[in-house]
Amino acid sequence: MERKTDYLVIGSGIAGLTYALKVARHFPDKKILVMTKAAADETNTKYAQGGVAVVNDLENDSFEKHIEDTLIAGDGLCNPGVVEIVVKEGPDRVRELIEWGARFDKEKDGDYKLGKEGGHSEFRIIHHKDITGWEMERTLLDAVAAQLNIELVKHFFVVDIITQHHLGYLVTKSTPDITCYGVYALNLETNRIEKILSTTTLLATGGNGQVYRTTTNPAIATGDGVAMVYRAKGRIENMEFIQFHPTALYEPGLRGQAFLITEAVRGDGGILRNKEGEAFMERYDPRRDLAPRDIVARAIDSEMKRTGTEHVWLDCRHFSKEKFIEHFPNIYQKCLSIGIDISQNMIPVAPAAHYSCGGIKSDEWGRSSIQQLYVCGECSSTGLHGANRLASNSLLEAMVFAHRCYLDVTAATEAKKYTQVQAEHIPDWNAEGTSEPKEMILITQSLKELQQVMSDYVGIVRNDIRLQRALNRLDLLWEETEQLYQGSSISPQLLELRNLITVGYLIVKGADFRKESRGLHFNTDYPGKSELVQNIVL
Ligand code: FAD
Ligand code: SIN
Repeated sequence: MERKTDYLVIGSGIAGLTYALKVARHFPDKKILVMTKAAADETNTKYAQGGVAVVNDLENDSFEKHIEDTLIAGDGLCNPGVVEIVVKEGPDRVRELIEWGARFDKEKDGDYKLGKEGGHSEFRIIHHKDITGWEMERTLLDAVAAQLNIELVKHFFVVDIITQHHLGYLVTKSTPDITCYGVYALNLETNRIEKILSTTTLLATGGNGQVYRTTTNPAIATGDGVAMVYRAKGRIENMEFIQFHPTALYEPGLRGQAFLITEAVRGDGGILRNKEGEAFMERYDPRRDLAPRDIVARAIDSEMKRTGTEHVWLDCRHFSKEKFIEHFPNIYQKCLSIGIDISQNMIPVAPAAHYSCGGIKSDEWGRSSIQQLYVCGECSSTGLHGANRLASNSLLEAMVFAHRCYLDVTAATEAKKYTQVQAEHIPDWNAEGTSEPKEMILITQSLKELQQVMSDYVGIVRNDIRLQRALNRLDLLWEETEQLYQGSSISPQLLELRNLITVGYLIVKGADFRKESRGLHFNTDYPGKSELVQNIVL
């Protein structure tokens, strides 16, 4: 089966939906197709807690301070031009979202309540209690539902982007004009692969936290967009910079998605303590509990190793219970549900994989290295985050870049810049010679192995021997999975495993090439920073 659309969007998080809405309103006669592999709201966006970092109190804050904080966190690797764009265009994008119906918490006098998180020199984080992402996703989905020229299709798993490779041409990394004509996607209701053709495609497929054993990300975060672009010979950069959030709720034996305890809790005065009850952050950084995330996560990792424990504690017992519940009702309830009353008990917390700072390389208009393919949100690498993302900068980045992609795509459409390929030239998906996988357990075991390898050897602290071990193990997993892929009919589990192995490989390769310690990448064999400040492009 085949579908055609004017604009194709993969992903229904903040990046995909914001872009779709803008294009749809600009071209009411054109059709926008948004696809997602899961339920419409099952996205990283929905789980965002702390909020959006944006300068709106010009008496106490300034663009310069937000820019400076972002550059410091990024540890020398941010693109300063992009940082300025995002910080300065951010307030307009937030205003638009508010006009579309998003509600952010206000003080009694009507000003927005501002939170603080690690690495921020000022209170500047607007939020909706501790479920900011839920509120943003709700707003966007409501607006999309009211926009008649957007069709949102759920449970469609995009497998690969279509390029000249599928027309029979040889495509390599040096092919100058690789062009995207649409995608192949597995319709999870019919179990058939469909051909979806579009003049332009936006990938907004989110993060890849599931490559690690524990992550704050939901199950959809399997790095599909990055893996697809890598297979299509597009450029991927800085994958070694995986941000571990310092404070995921520790629940013994848990694998997969861990509940987040937002950094805003530390912004409001929460204190990290080790097994001995010591407020240890004082020993690591003068900014203590509100140092940038890479520093806090490494400090916790070191305390856990030193004391032989699987977690540290977050102490909120000194908070006014009422105030805690007012700002963090969801966290309060979650803790209570597992027997932790935050006014009496400390919260057990441990770092968990949280955010991918690198991704598909994009220019300042969201254009990837593949023509007619835009990228936006967590799957992209715009240059904003450098070696370590400043807290609450990613929702802002997604909104700013969705707008920039929209400006570029509408200008390109009006200038008739992009070409559409004849549908008959693109072959249907070939499933010949494949059969139902006999043992699903092979896929789940390989996934567990991958997550174990990545957590044990490519976590917060790395070294050359560990990276080499990881590469050897990934090679084997890759070989076995390719055999399975060539001979089995496609399933979402197999596709995700294959994508995650690719993402794991890109993280390890990036880490191996980077012979220094910078931001989130800490290699004990090279504890200092190299004088050569460079992005690693694969
Ligand atoms: P997502 O929101 O993850 O959406 C990805 C979409 O792509 C989904 O619809 C998914 O189904 C779809 N998709 C993926 N692969 C495929 C495929 N193969 N085929 C079809 N569809 C596919 N950032 C902040 O700035 N502030 C915060 O307070 C904050 N808190 C966070 C808390 C948590 C627990 C987490 C996990 C993240 C947090 N972040 C925060 C980060 C931020 O939420 C994400 O970076 C951001 O929401 C990503 O948005 P996105 O649109 O790029 O991707
Ligand atoms: C948090 O609320 O701690 C997460 C914020 C972020 O990841 O930007």
